[in-house]
Amino acid sequence: MSDSTATTAARHARPSNVAQELFRARTGAAASHVVYAPGRVNLIGEHTDYTGGFVLPMAIEPGIYLAARARADRRVRVWSALWPEEPAEFEVGGAMRPGEPSWSNYVRGVLAGLQAAGARVPGFDAVVHATLPGGGGLSSSAALEVATATLGELLAGIALDPERRALLCQKAEHDFAGTPCGIMDQFAVVFGKRGHLLLIDCQSRVRTLVPMPGDDVALLVINTMVRHELNDGGYKARRDDCLEAARLLGVRELRDATPARVDEARALLPERIFRRARHVTTENVRTLAAVDALRAGEWTQLGELMGASHDSLRADFNVSCAELDAVAAAARALGPERGVFGCRMTGGGFGGCCIALVQAARAAEVEASLRTSYRAATGIEPVIFATQPADGPAVLLQP
Ligand code: GLA
Repeated sequence: MSDSTATTAARHARPSNVAQELFRARTGAAASHVVYAPGRVNLIGEHTDYTGGFVLPMAIEPGIYLAARARADRRVRVWSALWPEEPAEFEVGGAMRPGEPSWSNYVRGVLAGLQAAGARVPGFDAVVHATLPGGGGLSSSAALEVATATLGELLAGIALDPERRALLCQKAEHDFAGTPCGIMDQFAVVFGKRGHLLLIDCQSRVRTLVPMPGDDVALLVINTMVRHELNDGGYKARRDDCLEAARLLGVRELRDATPARVDEARALLPERIFRRARHVTTENVRTLAAVDALRAGEWTQLGELMGASHDSLRADFNVSCAELDAVAAAARALGPERGVFGCRMTGGGFGGCCIALVQAARAAEVEASLRTSYRAATGIEPVIFATQPADGPAVLLQP
């Protein structure tokens, strides 16, 4: 075992064991495979991926563990501790369709994609063990998709090119889960790298690793504990607005427009469409500026960009909510003098999480203060944790 493989195994030992124990409890047999895929958090570049724009996410260690064993037939049975209601049971092979329970569509969609790519995936039993919350805006769905693809490839004895794997997972989300998402989540999960953020140009799909210096600053994830659903229409409506904006501006994708172009065209655009376009075009500028600030260690500057991103998502894109705004306001009230450089909602919105860039030495104080303020504002107990950029998927056990 190489050093890095040994470290990976050590880091994942506990959750991998839990997944294997859950598997044994469900099936009475030992798992033959354990795979892992991380969650993700986005530093900046929100609601820009499906318009060909820029995003700056990273993979995070909390993720999805799948313990599994192939079956002799083509039946798939999956139990999930994250969605405890019911196990999912269906057949692979032949035409696969979305079905119940709804979370199983991430698994079904990926297996359908693998089949379409020519892989012969056998039936299997699997247990999902999650160390990140479902529906919390940390891409539990992309993690489950990528873990399923990793497992399915192993069982079928094929290895897809990672970009193809990510796109196949995105397609599963579109066709089976009903969320017309961009490429950010699946790319962040597949291409995550320890110590690095991932700048993705979502038009060319070119990826650039940007080192995250770890000493002076820390990243806090603040989960509002308000769940979001991205397949209930709000997300698709934003995507449609962006398509309409691009059409009215005469560009192929909104990425091809600038804030100045949007301002000039203001009279041509219905007010809502104007605001959507203003968010996307200014967010692209902010995301590239954030990369420069990160490289220069300009934390105040980076924090201001994060704050501006939140304001734009709230006022122009209308995807924030009272709870996310409460976190952002509490963080802003602390400010750089009391350890917070910046804070914004992260992910699709309508609930979920905020991410805050804080002084590492004051992270514990900031966390305590945000917890108190959020509780006072909403009556909800948040979950707050410090995080760092983590590696992508891993195979933790195979015969
Ligand atoms: C969700 C989608 C992503 C992206 C974000 C918003 O996480 O899955 O593709 O659009 O929302 O930035």
